[in-house]
Amino acid sequence: MSASVLFERRGNLALVTVNNPPVNALGQSVREGLLEAFRAAEADAQVEAVVLLCTGSTFMAGADIKEFGKPPQAPSLPEVVNAIEACAKPSVAVIHGSALGGGLEVALACHYRIARNDARVGLPEVKLGLLPGAGGTQRLPRLAGVAKALEMIVGGAPISATEAQRHGILDELFDGDLLAAGSAFAQRLLAEGRGVRRSGEQPVADAGEAAALLDAKRAEIHQRMPGLFSPLRCVAALEAAVQLPLAEGLERERELFRECLASPQRAALVHAFFAERQAGKVVGLAADTPTRAIASAAVIGGGTMGVGIALCFANAGIPVKLLEIDQTALERALQRARDTYAASVKRGSLSEADMARRLALLDGVTDYAALAEADVVVEAVFENLEVKRQVFERLDAVCKPGAILASNTSSLDLDAIAAFTARPQDVVGLHFFSPANVMRLLEVVRGAQTSDTVLATAMALGKRLKKVAVVVGVCDGFVGNRMVFQYGRESEFLLEEGATPEQVDGALRAFGMAMGPCAMRDLSGLDIGLAIRNRQRQSLPPQFPLPRVLDKLCEAGLLGQKSGAGFYRYPEGSRTPQPNPALAPLLEAASRERGIARRSLDDRYIVERCLFALVNEGAKILEEGIAQRASDIDLIYLNGYGFPAHRGGPMFHADQLGLDKVLARIREFHAEHGAWWQPAPLLERLAAEGRQFSDWEAGQ
Ligand code: COA
Repeated sequence: MSASVLFERRGNLALVTVNNPPVNALGQSVREGLLEAFRAAEADAQVEAVVLLCTGSTFMAGADIKEFGKPPQAPSLPEVVNAIEACAKPSVAVIHGSALGGGLEVALACHYRIARNDARVGLPEVKLGLLPGAGGTQRLPRLAGVAKALEMIVGGAPISATEAQRHGILDELFDGDLLAAGSAFAQRLLAEGRGVRRSGEQPVADAGEAAALLDAKRAEIHQRMPGLFSPLRCVAALEAAVQLPLAEGLERERELFRECLASPQRAALVHAFFAERQAGKVVGLAADTPTRAIASAAVIGGGTMGVGIALCFANAGIPVKLLEIDQTALERALQRARDTYAASVKRGSLSEADMARRLALLDGVTDYAALAEADVVVEAVFENLEVKRQVFERLDAVCKPGAILASNTSSLDLDAIAAFTARPQDVVGLHFFSPANVMRLLEVVRGAQTSDTVLATAMALGKRLKKVAVVVGVCDGFVGNRMVFQYGRESEFLLEEGATPEQVDGALRAFGMAMGPCAMRDLSGLDIGLAIRNRQRQSLPPQFPLPRVLDKLCEAGLLGQKSGAGFYRYPEGSRTPQPNPALAPLLEAASRERGIARRSLDDRYIVERCLFALVNEGAKILEEGIAQRASDIDLIYLNGYGFPAHRGGPMFHADQLGLDKVLARIREFHAEHGAWWQPAPLLERLAAEGRQFSDWEAGQ
């Protein structure tokens, strides 16, 4: 029998134990082992019932994602699941941790299901561009109804054991030992004469309302997830559960599953899943690098950013001191924190009790001496090196030895900041994205002298704060902002060449970006970065011109949402962009000044100009070792810049298109638009060798 599945007969029970660390994924050996174990149980005359459970921290967390896209290996999961359901002896799945995807499908095929109180169950396949392909779309609606199945399968979020029991997915909850609970439940079944009970044989409870539910979900998908491949197929599979007998429904589910498996969106979403896990592995840092304990924190600066960061600590249960220069500024900052929580309570996403608990962890102070015992201090003051110097010199004077001194700078030289202290090894960048309490991305900036322990602690802290933490090196703008500068510049050039904001934003939204660059500019304020642009104009050589369109708008008082108009108009404080009739003459003036005859540009050209600017800069960032690997760059763009997950990130997207094709376009743009488009040497090298960004890791 397979080493990943243990079979043991104890009295009248067969105990089937899956043991495939770390998450008991249903790889080939587990599938084979399950099939053999259930056959053995069936064949053993002394076995009256089967108890299925898992070792380690979780029940089966799904199919083995690493097998997707590779040649299938028998037995298939549907075959295993169908055999489990067909077994002539009653079976009980004993769930702890997470029963996800294929794991839940196996449990649904068992005749009874019990779970530890703290377990979760779900069908998250849609998040990987798939649908449950081993009966989940057919069995779940039979147990829980179409409405709940639609919510779980199209939404993909796991639910608690309590909720699952309420919806008929679980029979009982328990606390304590898995084997004891499973055996007791099985003996009770036998004593009460309750035998085999197949969920696949039950009718769909709310079949009468199904048509309306399915239609409503389709409409919602068209509205909220346009362009996504798998959600509509999830609905189609559920429709089959309502309309067809089980065997035919399973066939239809398999067909739809195969379509999803072959889709490029599935490949992109699986890439994003592994990118997130890979980012935690830091090149040159041993997995067992010791970390420092973080039991308390402090944040300097109570602006939007500082308060957002302080909330992140409070949300994670870490006591945090928020320092402002005087009582008035401090009161304003604390009020902002209270308002943010109050808004969450009003929306229903936070309870009053949790708000009170979190606010109690937040302590406003005005004296640096109060930071003496903090384990980590994050500076979020004005972006000016002289101001940072004052802050870090004081921190160096008051903080205890071993405290981590972090800067939230988004553009200044972290090594220069570290040099303001006598302990540069304890200085690290923690670049949060605004609003810091909402955005998942955290760039962890590794300075030239940042110690391994400090870096490892910063990464572990990121995880505790529920952030996607990505290590980056020191350079202007780090990874995210350095690349987005190129993207923004191209979008502005396009406006000067003939496109309208509606066209630029529309083309990029159709590609999948959460927001177009012009609407994004309006949101952040067109005057942001004006001073930087002016400085750059002085310092950049003449072959690197900058667009003028933003300056033109600012001169005309169009600053974006905050002034009621920018690229778009926002009547009476509305946040919905409307066309701005004042814009056309300004765009024409900007074109004239640069000596450009406006022309019509198509959507594909717009998307290529903006995205390939990202890719070319990303290649330079990789070669310089500022990012460790291409998937880290993708992760930054997916979590900080609204890049569509189903495209996998800019570098993955370029790999999919083929680097030779991307390079050919970049060469054309270089010929057409000059020095900004000088192809990155790494891109040229990889394209010539027929390789991909994903083949490349720092140091190769
Ligand atoms: N197949 C293969 N590997 C998997 C996996 C799966 N279904 N689920 C997790 N892993 C791997 C991860 O890649 C990681 O490997 P690494 O240590 O080599 O990087 C390891 O298991 C631990 O996963 P991680 O996510 O870091 O652990 P966690 O404790 O934070 O979360 C889960 C555990 C199960 C909640 C989470 O891994 C998860 O959601 N997995 C995917 C579930 C899913 O989508 N199933 C449906 C598949 S169709």
